[in-house]
Amino acid sequence: MRFSFMENQWRHIFVFYLLFSFFLLTGIQVVQCSPNYYHHHRLGGLSKLFVFGDSYADTGNDQKPVARSWKVPYGITFPGKPAGRFSDGRVLTDYVASFLGIKTPVAWKKTNRLRYGINFAFGGTGVFDTVVPPDPNVTMTRQIDIFQQLIQNGVYSKFDLNSSAALVALAGNDYITYFAKNVSSEGLSNFTASIISQLVINMKRIHDMGVKKVAVTAIEPIGCLPVISVLSSYQQCNETYNKISIFHNLLLQQAVEKLNNETSESTFMILDLYNAFISIFERQKEHPGSLKFGNPLKPCCVGLTRKDLCGDKDENGVPKYIVCENPESAFFWDDVHPSHEGWHAIYSTLQHSLQQLYIR
Ligand SMILES: *[C@@H]1O[C@H](CO)[C@@H](O)[C@H](O)[C@H]1NC(C)=O
Ligand SMILES: *[C@@H]1O[C@H](CO)[C@@H](O)[C@H](O)[C@H]1NC(C)=O
Ligand SMILES: *[C@@H]1O[C@H](CO)[C@@H](O)[C@H](O)[C@H]1NC(C)=O
Ligand SMILES: *[C@@H]1O[C@H](CO)[C@@H](O)[C@H](O)[C@H]1NC(C)=O
Ligand SMILES: *[C@@H]1O[C@H](CO)[C@@H](O)[C@H](O)[C@H]1NC(C)=O
Ligand SMILES: *[C@@H]1O[C@H](CO)[C@@H](O)[C@H](O)[C@H]1NC(C)=O
Repeated sequence: MRFSFMENQWRHIFVFYLLFSFFLLTGIQVVQCSPNYYHHHRLGGLSKLFVFGDSYADTGNDQKPVARSWKVPYGITFPGKPAGRFSDGRVLTDYVASFLGIKTPVAWKKTNRLRYGINFAFGGTGVFDTVVPPDPNVTMTRQIDIFQQLIQNGVYSKFDLNSSAALVALAGNDYITYFAKNVSSEGLSNFTASIISQLVINMKRIHDMGVKKVAVTAIEPIGCLPVISVLSSYQQCNETYNKISIFHNLLLQQAVEKLNNETSESTFMILDLYNAFISIFERQKEHPGSLKFGNPLKPCCVGLTRKDLCGDKDENGVPKYIVCENPESAFFWDDVHPSHEGWHAIYSTLQHSLQQLYIR
């Protein structure tokens, strides 16, 4: 199989950014008022969340105004204007924080509020350097370096770290970079192995610094992302691409088992985005009448032409995208990112795994 002729699609995927944000305070308040959050009352005493990774977790770290997460119509559902999230509303970080019963940790550039941890995730990053703008330089390693520096500066005590969890989110920017470099698919499984071994180094480092629990995402079904499924008019996922995700997740699972063997059994855990996405799609297929998500593969915000992305405008400021009428009935917000409701549905299916955060 060859991927080079998919270049155009992969260019679109360059929009996998992970961010941290400025309007977060507003966001935090809304999260707090929301009645279905906060069931857990810090059962496990995990009172801080440190977040590493890409656009699935970024809440405002990517550069303003370059990143599309800072452009209209991002943030229209929550907080009502662009807030540095690659969604119309909340993203994974917000939901994991709400599960822990804490406010969403702030982006690291705004380090005056450290109480709930810090989000170091940047849209566009990977475990290696990526070609994905706007911050290709902030690899996960670099994010962990920044964290380590803060700890060395005494910003967090051993006690703080011992009551904290880490979220490590990796959606696929390393793969986009791999394909953009036009490398043959024969080297792909070796590349996956190198991603996983770097990811293991990263997770170990975070744990060795004293963070008690480390949750890592299994990669989503890449072949179901709208940027790929558009080729079938959003009718089906591409199994060729999904196989990349499946192999990645298999190696990840083996690696996490090994890590837990070496530490304590429940230190490292996987948040299985692959099966969360697929089970939501399947449920929709079985109950098409419920129409929670209509056609779940079809995104809410789409460019007018194949070259345009959600958030793009022409030189006169005229939008080069269209937004669906009901974002709450779209699973995907744009060509690669779930919507606010999409993340909510994913969160619901992950609740059971998240309970592992409370196993001592
Ligand atoms: C990337 O980061 C390194 C180290 O932080 C720095 O030396 C380098 O100049 C940066 N490159 C770019 C393109 O920003
Ligand atoms: C971390 O917390 C556990 C209880 O959850 C305790 O047994 C352990 O001694 C603590 N370790 C440190 C370094 O504070
Ligand atoms: C990518 O690979 C194809 C087929 O091997 C080749 O024709 C093309 O020139 C390559 N493109 C780049 C940018 O290297
Ligand atoms: C993948 O790695 C194996 C073992 O390290 C090596 O023998 C093989 O040549 C590599 N394959 C490719 C396509 O790079
Ligand atoms: C899936 O993607 C591969 C690789 O780009 C392509 O060859 C294949 O035709 C696609 N399959 C479908 C069903 O679109
Ligand atoms: C975990 O440890 C047990 C016993 O030490 C060993 O039999 C098993 O193969 C290990 N599993 C992994 C995934 O390393």
